[in-house]
Amino acid sequence: MQLGLIKALYTDQLTKVYNYGEAENLFYITLQWLEKKSKTAVILGQETLLVGAYQLVLEELLLGKPIQYVTHEAPFYGLDLYVDERVLIPRPETEQLVHWIIQDNPKFKGTVLDIGTGSGCIPIALAKHWPEAVLSGCDISANALVVAEKNAKEQEVDVTFIQKDILNQKLDTYDIIISNPPYIGENEKHDMHQNVLDNEPHLALFVSDSDPLIFYKRILQLAKQQETTCYFETSELYRNELDSWLNKEGHTYIWQLDFQEKNRMLKVSF
Ligand SMILES: C[S@@+](CC[C@H](N)C(=O)[O-])C[C@H]1O[C@@H](n2cnc3c(N)ncnc32)[C@H](O)[C@@H]1O
Repeated sequence: MQLGLIKALYTDQLTKVYNYGEAENLFYITLQWLEKKSKTAVILGQETLLVGAYQLVLEELLLGKPIQYVTHEAPFYGLDLYVDERVLIPRPETEQLVHWIIQDNPKFKGTVLDIGTGSGCIPIALAKHWPEAVLSGCDISANALVVAEKNAKEQEVDVTFIQKDILNQKLDTYDIIISNPPYIGENEKHDMHQNVLDNEPHLALFVSDSDPLIFYKRILQLAKQQETTCYFETSELYRNELDSWLNKEGHTYIWQLDFQEKNRMLKVSF
């Protein structure tokens, strides 16, 4: 069958769930994944023998499964990481956080902990750029840590992963702490894509509405004792609340804009 016909099938079916651009993009990701081909193959009118495989992927996508959990591939800061339902799919904003941290600390050689490491994307990307740093990641989820270990091995970097509940356990001393913690309030669920809600781990996404800043407060309380510089990803919804709390605690901090001009990245120094 001609690839053009498969593409038409994808866009016809997937526009029931996604907009046209997203549906087209999902077809091209599948084309690349199954056949290592680009859109040129479609323009040239090439045929495929993998109709059954395209059909299987389409069925999963129609159920709302994110493409990264179908292909088990997520691009992150120039790396191809493995992902599955045990971990959050790394987001472009987190790549920006990593970019900022590297620019802020070129050739860093000290100790680093990523709290809530998930797929391990942050310390693994940093390890590629900071060969002399000592990198660690922790997560409450033992399942997530299995994925993080797999990624570190596949990317041939040395990162230590530790199971830790940061809200209830203490920390060793580090020079830099990084965290993209759960920060979505339960009351924001109704604004979210159904496929995120149905597929990504809620432990990675949500915090209680009663104290959505709980992770930032706890991590900064631990970091203050060690005078450790902290970098965070957060939601712009918390900008004002975080500002008030940071000022009240007397913290020195700066915000960094993400590519949508939103204050989503925060550095706190002691
Ligand atoms: C938003 S995800 C971030 C994952 C990854 N760092 C990234 O940026 O893609 C938050 C992570 O925090 C972990 N987490 C949730 N509660 C935790 C806790 N109490 N202690 C440590 N990690 C926790 C979740 O399992 C999840 O992997």
